[in-house]
Amino acid sequence: MKYIYENEQKNYQDFASGRVLYNQKGATAFPVRLASEIFLRSKAYLEERGHDGTITIYDPFCGGAYLLTVLGFLHGRYLSRIIASDIDENILNLARRNLALLTTDGLEQRIEEIKNNLLLYGKESHEEALESALSLKALQADINEGLEIECFQADAGKAQLPAGEKVDLVLTDLPYGQITHWSNAGENTLDLFLENIEPSLKPAAILAIIGVKEQKIEHNRYNRIKHFTIGKRRISFLELK
Ligand SMILES: C[S@@+](CC[C@H](N)C(=O)[O-])C[C@H]1O[C@@H](n2cnc3c(N)ncnc32)[C@H](O)[C@@H]1O
Repeated sequence: MKYIYENEQKNYQDFASGRVLYNQKGATAFPVRLASEIFLRSKAYLEERGHDGTITIYDPFCGGAYLLTVLGFLHGRYLSRIIASDIDENILNLARRNLALLTTDGLEQRIEEIKNNLLLYGKESHEEALESALSLKALQADINEGLEIECFQADAGKAQLPAGEKVDLVLTDLPYGQITHWSNAGENTLDLFLENIEPSLKPAAILAIIGVKEQKIEHNRYNRIKHFTIGKRRISFLELK
């Protein structure tokens, strides 16, 4: 796979999990460059389909919301709403803390926490975390002021968005075994999700689904626009038929 948008490898240490973004046992991170590339390709597909406004993004397997939080910092100027859900209430605590970093108060609180740690323990890692937090604060200045964030517990196979709420982009990283597992309906959950979410999709909506390369993502209600493989992952872009 060739990068189209993120064609330059940058230093993403400010996003390292546990540095400013919070971490927790059982949570996973995601390569930042790839996350950004997937988002920008999705945005280009949306534009091709006539959508050029801000984007409501939904991750129904959000885990600790690492992916959404990174996208919020990098591309928050394009976002009007971030919706996050997961079946696991425990991991959602982490998701809420991470997504709160996108808000002025949330990031200020984190900066104070890091400063306190620096005063108490004076470790080099705390100095680095403070530098990264200040870099994230600079990125935060670009986030759309009206950005709304919503986080709730739901089985993706049954997830219902509030009536009238419509999504432009579903971007999600599926459970794949070693750290994160399918709960409830297992792999069938994705089919159930794709059926269930249909009424909540805007007509031009795009779905970017990240799975393992052995897993074919297809559904009779959706066309696959494109897919690519990178390392162990396969990324599939879908649209409604
Ligand atoms: C690979 S992780 C997602 C990581 C996330 N993208 C991040 O950046 O932090 C997959 C998540 O799917 C969740 N999951 C498993 N079965 C689910 C189901 N039936 N409905 C909703 N979430 C589920 C797990 O709890 C796990 O948090």
